[in-house]
Amino acid sequence: MADGDIKAGAQKIRTLQCQSCHGKDGVSKLPGAPNLAGQGQDYMIAALGAYRSGERKNDIMNTIAKPLKDADIADVTAYYAAIQLTVKVPPP
Ligand code: HEC
Repeated sequence: MADGDIKAGAQKIRTLQCQSCHGKDGVSKLPGAPNLAGQGQDYMIAALGAYRSGERKNDIMNTIAKPLKDADIADVTAYYAAIQLTVKVPPP
């Protein structure tokens, strides 16, 4: 698990605007944006690195990820990964 400061991440999702699409609680605010609450940190770090390098293509996320520093990625992913979920599956 990568390092990252959850408190700093909580600030950064505001200043970097992540929360306007992915929510403060990690639940998506846009039909096209995925939920990030409780998502694996390593997975999110890999996704953001791929958006930043352009290997994973999405106009919005390529623009968002480009200026991110490794420390920003570590902090925001630490925050979203730390959100705890309860789930309820639909009846069969
Ligand atoms: C304007 C809306 C918007 C903003 C702002 C935004 N995102 Fe996204 N994000 C999206 C969309 C839409 C996708 C899905 C892109 C795709 O299809 O690959 C996405 C995908 C992602 C993914 C990949 C999730 C997965 O399941 O593969 C991560 C991680 C992510 N965003 C993190 C962030 C972080 C961190 C920030 C702030 C620095 C941020 N996003 C800001 C809209 C946004």
